[in-house]
Amino acid sequence: MAVRISVRGAVVYYGSFRALDGVTAEFRQGEVAAVLGPNGSGKTTLLRTILRVLKPKEGAIYVDERDLRELKEGELAKLMGYMPQGVEVGFSMRVWEVVALGRKPHVTWALSPRDVQIIEEAMKLVGVERLANRYLHELSGGERQRVMLARVLAQEPKVLLLDEPVSSLDLKYQIEVLKLVRSITREKALVTIASLHDINLALRFADKVVLMKDGSVYAIGRPHEVLTPENIMEVFNVKAVLAKNPRPFIVVEDVVEGTSPMPETP
Ligand SMILES: Nc1ncnc2c1ncn2[C@@H]1O[C@H](COP(=O)(O)OP(=O)(O)O)[C@@H](O)[C@H]1O
Ligand SMILES: [Mg+2]
Repeated sequence: MAVRISVRGAVVYYGSFRALDGVTAEFRQGEVAAVLGPNGSGKTTLLRTILRVLKPKEGAIYVDERDLRELKEGELAKLMGYMPQGVEVGFSMRVWEVVALGRKPHVTWALSPRDVQIIEEAMKLVGVERLANRYLHELSGGERQRVMLARVLAQEPKVLLLDEPVSSLDLKYQIEVLKLVRSITREKALVTIASLHDINLALRFADKVVLMKDGSVYAIGRPHEVLTPENIMEVFNVKAVLAKNPRPFIVVEDVVEGTSPMPETP
């Protein structure tokens, strides 16, 4: 099954607040798309709209040429994997139980030996196999974030929606996790959409960048075409320069004087 996600003119409201203002973007199989933009620019809203948790008031989303609204719940659960931003845990579960939950859309009665193998493999891939019997609430933020990634990988979705998947990770795991996400995306021909805060990680790991501002797509395209000092200045209000050695790299030098502080997301 080929999978392509097309967002066409999506307008999404929270009450009377227009959080997505006519977003159009196309996401293809085998590609990692990074969604960047300041706090409150609509990154999470876009991901949750693709997940069908939020419904566009205007516009639509297509999976290949099928309207997302036509998909059955079960189909959707198998198709899309979502890793939310900053996971709160108010309950006690062991790491392997959390990862096993990823198999839920596939399991009818009990976990099969194949399910168990997939769960173990997912834990190994993100390096949490040694934590299997620990409780989620006892882990560090970064360890927890990797467990949540193992869970979504165990689900074996075709569309991988990751909301700030590396925000709590140390430098080594930021690189390792994004390398892993990219190789799985290629290998399994997934459509991967990840919101990121780090411009340079996006330059290095993304095939496509969606740069958002105030609920709209400010620019979309290849990372080096979108993440220019001019666009970064317009969208983030910071002065940046592009360094070229040893590979393209953005150096943020200062905030731009006289601009108001960025809005905070709840
Ligand atoms: N549940 C909600 N109710 C009302 N407003 C919301 C809600 N969630 C997000 N918003 C608002 O919508 C805008 C976009 O939020 P979000 O998509 O979370 O931004 P981002 O992920 O880019 O930081 C923000 O202004 C935020 O305050
Ligand atoms: Mg967000």
